[in-house]
Amino acid sequence: MIEYRNVRVALLGGGTVGAQVARLLLEHKEEFASRVGASLELTGIAVRNLDAARSADLPKELFTTDAESLILGADIVIEVMGGLEPARSYILQAINSGADVVTANKALLATHGTELFEAAERVGAQLYFEAAVAGAIPIIRPLRESLAGDRVKRIMGIVNGTTNYILDKMDTEGASFDDALAVATELGYAEADPTADVDAFDAAQKASILASLAFHTTIPLESVHREGIREISGKTVELAKKAGYVVKLLAVCERLTDPTTGEEGVSARVYPALISREHPLAAVHKANNAVFVEAEAAGSLMFYGAGAGGPETASAVLGDLVSAARRHVIGGPGLGASTHANLPVLPISAITTRYHVTLSVFDRPGVLASVAEEFAKHGVSVELVEQGTFGSEAVSGEAAPTATLVIGTHAALESDLAATVSALAQLDAVSSVVSVLRVEGA
Ligand code: NAP
Ligand code: HSE
Repeated sequence: MIEYRNVRVALLGGGTVGAQVARLLLEHKEEFASRVGASLELTGIAVRNLDAARSADLPKELFTTDAESLILGADIVIEVMGGLEPARSYILQAINSGADVVTANKALLATHGTELFEAAERVGAQLYFEAAVAGAIPIIRPLRESLAGDRVKRIMGIVNGTTNYILDKMDTEGASFDDALAVATELGYAEADPTADVDAFDAAQKASILASLAFHTTIPLESVHREGIREISGKTVELAKKAGYVVKLLAVCERLTDPTTGEEGVSARVYPALISREHPLAAVHKANNAVFVEAEAAGSLMFYGAGAGGPETASAVLGDLVSAARRHVIGGPGLGASTHANLPVLPISAITTRYHVTLSVFDRPGVLASVAEEFAKHGVSVELVEQGTFGSEAVSGEAAPTATLVIGTHAALESDLAATVSALAQLDAVSSVVSVLRVEGA
């Protein structure tokens, strides 16, 4: 029998993810020991409520409310509590007491990442965070290590399981937004406060992490353009479906040329967009995530899998734990944060993409011409026009016939499109601008 040395692992959080990390760590203790060359000893699980029900049958004596003492005796600290505080202070305490840290906390990394990485660098500690983006999918390590010798041009992905679950249920079953959100919450995909998912804060945090890694530039959360899915109605999903599209919440990170200076910059944004039903991202159902990476030499790569869930996320956490434990046993410098490129982050007005503008217009002669004229005036080229459902609207007490007009554009600059839409909203012929959706993917 091999005598292994002990690596002491403290677990902060025993919820959806934490309970599964503990279960798998205890169930596969022997295997972890042979993989790492050391025995991973789970020294405790810090929680708030010792009596709360857990999703796994774990020894009661492991639970504690004293996170600080647990951290003090640890070689590796796993933080799966979530939130900014006390998670930030605990991670700093762990780093300063010489431990490496594994975290799944994208909110914390997107908000205080620079501070945490600098603290780690100062003392030669490592911060691992594979589980912070896209759950079980290995995407951090590929960006940080496998593609370190390449130049990433663009990342486009579905990185929030909850919103994908909601939009997918609306698309495939005609479910209501509220019903779909309730099921996603029950299944443990949603954040403690699901507005983080629905209003795309979660996806924006992940976009900030991905873009920072891909472009070797600090991309602060505030500079990630963010639009959530609250405005996406059943009608929008239905119209998209009829036109051969599906609505997905996308995170897009890309290198682009600043239209005003001609200099290279980067963009990170999150919004609901139309994707052709033929596009591989259209086939990402339920709470799954997928991330497309386009790199100069590697070409197009796609990463697909479970983006949320207890055991799925625990898989990514445990992968990091194995790396951290090996480093603890064998030594080695590990990887630092790379922000040397320091590219400017461009505003949403600088991006170029295609659009679908849906208008409710009064159904009378000359309307189409006046609408088309606004697109032409602002330099936005129209690709298709479709007249959809008819209705009527009361104008000065009289019922006026209306029609839904969908205008698809060729690639256009966001600032030109925004100016077009403002002008359209002022036209007498236009009753209302129903929606403006970007079209992504070839
Ligand atoms: P969760 O179910 O809410 O669990 C949080 C755990 O942390 C609970 O055990 C809670 O204790 C404990 N905790 C919270 N505040 C604490 C405090 N101040 N002191 C001590 N313990 C505290 O959260 P989760 O879904 O597992 O998510 C954990 C992290 O993983 C988050 O950063 C999340 O964004 C990330 N993540 C989650 C998923 C997912 O699918 N759920 C996927 C990827 C990443 P009690 O149990 O006593 O309340
Ligand atoms: N709430 C997140 C999601 C969990 O739905 O994707 C995974 O980060």
